Amino acid sequence: MDLHQKITELKKQKNAVILAHYYQVPEIQEVADYVGDSLGLSQKAAETDAEIIVFAGVHFMAETAKILNPNKKVLLPDLMAGCSLADSCPPDVFQKLVEAHPDHVVITYVNCSAEVKALSDIICTSSNAEKIVNSVPKDVPIIFAPDKNLGKYIQKKTGRKMLLWDGACIVHEVFSIDKLLKLYKEHPGSKIIAHPESESHILETANYIGSTAGMIDYVKKHPSEKFIVATEAGILHKMQQEVPQAVLIPAPAEEDNTCACSECAFMKMNTLQKLYNCLLNENPQIEVSEEIRKKAFLPIERMLELSK
Ligand code: 13P
Ligand code: SF4
Repeated sequence: MDLHQKITELKKQKNAVILAHYYQVPEIQEVADYVGDSLGLSQKAAETDAEIIVFAGVHFMAETAKILNPNKKVLLPDLMAGCSLADSCPPDVFQKLVEAHPDHVVITYVNCSAEVKALSDIICTSSNAEKIVNSVPKDVPIIFAPDKNLGKYIQKKTGRKMLLWDGACIVHEVFSIDKLLKLYKEHPGSKIIAHPESESHILETANYIGSTAGMIDYVKKHPSEKFIVATEAGILHKMQQEVPQAVLIPAPAEEDNTCACSECAFMKMNTLQKLYNCLLNENPQIEVSEEIRKKAFLPIERMLELSK
């Protein structure tokens, strides 16, 4: 049996479900029960009746699944699979900001630690951030953390002034505007599609801005076109599978970036072998203290309610 078959067998034996983000390597996406964006993955984690959740994504995603499922085992193939955005928001510093603005509603992007979630009023993802911000009465001030690029984009869309945390994703910040414009000249008429974690100058060129799931839906609606795709390169696998005739060109990164097309080193820490090992050994597991979990659960629950 190859690894894919072994994982499929183990999954059945152990009543486990594999949830994978679009940024995972193709072979992990192929063995997963569900592949989606951060919102879709949280929704699946909230409704699963499997006994074990194997989260093929990064730490904050698996942690969110654990917060929603305290009595299930939640496994992450590599515990070191973190996130630069989550790391940019240390809970003790964030707490000071929140305490200094007691009249503000705290909206936090899901890319953060359980401790930061526990200090928040509502969680959002890139696909529901606008809706979540609009759910707050107009006269109530908002703290938005940790992604400043998503925050700036949502400010522009909603006309709300928000207090923004100064965090960013290392992957979405390396797209080169000069190279992107040059590439567009070589492919005139192609559609530029971008994730809102990208910087404003990239977003200003885009025909469509949305979450990874939103970007795939957009390509499905324009199947015979050419696209320049400004997000993590892992998305190209599912996008091409869904729309085989679409021409997909990854947006170029700055010269000094280690990868010609942007790849998230954290997402890529998971491999099929590590996924197999973690399901076999039921380790490494995600743990969250009950005190933090209870506090972090409420803002996630609010997001899930508002996203129905
Ligand atoms: P979405 O899954 O909401 O598109 O966000 C992408 C991302 O950066 C996940 O870490
Ligand atoms: Fe974090 Fe960016 Fe990687 Fe997403 S792509 S997990 S935001 S570092």
